[in-house]
Amino acid sequence: MCGITGYIGARQAAPILLEGLSKLEYRGYDSAGLALLNGSEMDVRKKKGRVSVLAQEVKKHFFDSHLGISHTRWATHGAVTDANAHPHVSSCGNFAMVHNGVIENYENIKSFLLTKGYTFRSQTDSEALVNLIAYHYYKLPENSENRFLESVRRALLHLEGTYGIAVICRMQPDEIIAARKGSPLIIGIGDSERMVSSDVLGFSGRARSVIYLDDGQIAKVTADSCEVVSANNELVPYVTNSVDWELDSAELGSFSTYMEKEIFEQPKVIENAIRGRISDDASTAVLNGLNMTPSEMRQIDRILFCACGTAWHACLVAENLIEKYTRIPVEVEYASEFRYRNAPLDKNTLAFVISQSGETIDTLEALRESRRKGFKTLAITNSVGSTIARESDGGLYQHAGREIGVASTKAFTSQITICILIALYIGRMRDLSFAQGKEIVGALKALPSAVEETLKLAPELKKLAGKYCKYHDFLFLGRLDEFPIALEGALKLKEISYIHAEGYPAAEMKHGPIALVSPECPTLIFANSGDIFNKVISNAQEIKARKGPLIIVTDSPDRFPEGLADDVVVIPKVHESVRPVVSTIPIQLLAYYIAQQLGCDVDKPRNLAKSVTVE
Ligand code: G6P
Repeated sequence: MCGITGYIGARQAAPILLEGLSKLEYRGYDSAGLALLNGSEMDVRKKKGRVSVLAQEVKKHFFDSHLGISHTRWATHGAVTDANAHPHVSSCGNFAMVHNGVIENYENIKSFLLTKGYTFRSQTDSEALVNLIAYHYYKLPENSENRFLESVRRALLHLEGTYGIAVICRMQPDEIIAARKGSPLIIGIGDSERMVSSDVLGFSGRARSVIYLDDGQIAKVTADSCEVVSANNELVPYVTNSVDWELDSAELGSFSTYMEKEIFEQPKVIENAIRGRISDDASTAVLNGLNMTPSEMRQIDRILFCACGTAWHACLVAENLIEKYTRIPVEVEYASEFRYRNAPLDKNTLAFVISQSGETIDTLEALRESRRKGFKTLAITNSVGSTIARESDGGLYQHAGREIGVASTKAFTSQITICILIALYIGRMRDLSFAQGKEIVGALKALPSAVEETLKLAPELKKLAGKYCKYHDFLFLGRLDEFPIALEGALKLKEISYIHAEGYPAAEMKHGPIALVSPECPTLIFANSGDIFNKVISNAQEIKARKGPLIIVTDSPDRFPEGLADDVVVIPKVHESVRPVVSTIPIQLLAYYIAQQLGCDVDKPRNLAKSVTVE
């Protein structure tokens, strides 16, 4: 997490840096800061709070500068204070650095530097690195070639942990040094200007093309050139990539928040996930991105899914669908556990990671671990050119458009849609008949309009939010395909409204959570048509018997006694393969409107960040 921007060129740097930072606030918003150079003069401003607070400060102190670096922070080491905000300046005052990542051995580095007379002003791990860069700079002979870049390179050799950094130096006022390992860093190329950012969004549409740095690479960036070296100081040839700015359109339009906009974009997003991925005879999916021949696909004995957060819930939906339609056993792992667990894997395992951002460090490391073990590892991601996309053996892009609201909504339903396509595709090579394939394709094609229809529940859910926002605890229950949606419902509510919520398989509720049921703890339960409809209704009765306020989300309101639920939310009847997508809409809307009623900042909930690039 944390967002970095840097600028060098003909224009005033500060407004460009601030605009870029505001686009990167999804990566963290505890504090923000910038450092500007004008010749050997350096101006550093940093403030606790949002980028808008920093912008006010910068406005008060105009500093003429065409080169600078900036940062929006998600705190890891050290409290949220002005002093801990980035940029950090070396104790000699000559170097300023912004850092995204975690330096694991910073205490050793700091102890060493203290013995050399360096002083520290913050409690951050990052300050150790900027001082180590200064230390190496002064150790190098004055006239040594590329002295600034070389001092950064040498400092990084001693580092354990992850970093995306941008550094400036008063003695080298016409270059920015940027480097990455484990945290993303991209160089943007404009007309006689260069930029640095954690994400293309930070270029605010100014970059004509971009260079994605790879782990271990270090770049010297000037207004009209870029030189990239490896950790061993070898010059690295790089490729430039063009940017699809249309995808990054981040306008709110008539919506009041990004989360609301993204919820209502879902019909389109689902259409985009399906587009071009249905066979001409409408009986299966066409998934060329998987880079696997049908015969390779038929050799698969096991499928593994790894992800974090909401994407992990999408994996659980995939598990149900794929096992149902392909009869291949599927395992779902938290990426953060998988990377350290050394799980035994069958030799014919196919691995998938799911990540909206394509940069979540745990998911990236799970992908690397799976590939190191020799497993074909595919990615489902929304971020073209992200590290996960680049390091995977293939995969499918979501094409959901940029998701800015920190709580994931459209990315989730788009991930599920892609998992339905995968289940269909592999299923058709195994157990699914032509007719069953056609049925699922029909359901997928009808899905955007079913979602559109479900979104019409918004006014009703807004009203319910008014009634339910006063509670401090919530239960979400669902069975089979809807158990992951119950988990996602609880997560959405927690994330944006800070109400304690738990998601459970409906029948499992009897083994513990039922103790929470009381007039003070409402339950939302999914009761949709299918084999176990009556069982779910029995679970609902158990809640009612204990006077728990009850919301039933259902496609069959006529099949249970009137008066059982305090509130009934009726969703359209759809084919079971796509129902998890439709069931998701009410829980997103309910969480959204509850958070809004409570006056919470839905797009930037406390303590969270959209892309978690630290462990
Ligand atoms: C963070 C976000 C979640 C997201 C998770 C995984 O925790 O706050 O909304 O689901 O990361 O993100 P990814 O980009 O890998 O899908």
